[in-house]
Amino acid sequence: MPERLGITVTKHIMETQRKIKGVSGNFSSLLSELIVAGKVIHRAVSKAGLIDVLGKTGLTNTQGEEVQKLDDFANTTIIQKMDHTGFLCAMASEEVEDIIEIDAKHPQGGKYTLAFDPLDGSSNIDANVSVGTIFSIHRKITDGKKGSLNDFLQQGKRQVCAGYIIYGSSTMLVYTVGNGVHGFTFDPSVGEFILSHPFIKTPSRGKIFSCNEGNANKWNEKTREVVDYFKAIDEDTGRPYSARYIGSLVSDFHRNLLYGGVFIYPNDQNYPNGKLRLLYEAAPLAMICKQAGGDAISDSEEILEIKPTELHQRVPLFIGSKEDVKVCRRILTSG
Ligand code: AHG
Ligand code: MN
Ligand code: MN
Repeated sequence: MPERLGITVTKHIMETQRKIKGVSGNFSSLLSELIVAGKVIHRAVSKAGLIDVLGKTGLTNTQGEEVQKLDDFANTTIIQKMDHTGFLCAMASEEVEDIIEIDAKHPQGGKYTLAFDPLDGSSNIDANVSVGTIFSIHRKITDGKKGSLNDFLQQGKRQVCAGYIIYGSSTMLVYTVGNGVHGFTFDPSVGEFILSHPFIKTPSRGKIFSCNEGNANKWNEKTREVVDYFKAIDEDTGRPYSARYIGSLVSDFHRNLLYGGVFIYPNDQNYPNGKLRLLYEAAPLAMICKQAGGDAISDSEEILEIKPTELHQRVPLFIGSKEDVKVCRRILTSG
């Protein structure tokens, strides 16, 4: 009897999309194309040391950050895989200042937008630390065939789909279309993502807090109070929590999603609005976290309620187990 392959992500998307109102058949094709791009990036990341994709390009991106060769490779791979599908009206990338229009030579009039962080955590790639791709899909809301900035400046709660691919000890795809969070592990022997974590639920309270305490002296008082809470000794609430910080958002988020806990990247003297970007880091992860039973706030509001005003807008981020984020909210909003 041949070994059962298990449910591939393509089959899962087809079955899932039937349950989502207002999502056309194109949606599963869109996601399938994006997954092919993920497989290409997986291949480059898995042998980064052997091909000339390590190190820096010597360029800086719109964020003023050094562009790693793999950032560039991942960015180009996604754009080239997605721009001719006819499903997108435009794209937005961490690595590109303005929205990426669909060239006139490709089919126009796509019904969706795609915003993405092509490679998150890339400053760690030369040290073989897990990195990831984060993506967010919205419906087009403006008239006409071409996408515009306003198609991207939508609240996170209106996302059609949010997901990430983590290139780690194994490569996993985690995504939601609003009916639960599902994880797929890449099986290189068949080149398919296979359902391995159906309906992921994050523990209501964790034992891990994750933040860069090297920035503690640049934080405001409330943030320090939040982190001191998780470090305090209190047996009834299982404190102190363990400190875990990889410095790659997708890796820190993925660990906390499965084990429970809270990830914190607050605003500080260097980043008055926080470091992480709303459209392609905080909002997609917030949708995933909420769907898994967790929560995600900035320093004052629900991430998914924030109406973006800029493409690369930064936000403070407190995300993870519901009860742990509730503590953050209580302290951050106390008088
Ligand atoms: P990116 O590699 O896409 O620029 O993202 C890096 C982010 C995120 O992955 C991580 O949580 C954070 O930067 C780490 O920042 P610090 O090094 O300041 O802690
Ligand atoms: Mn990132
Ligand atoms: Mn990035």
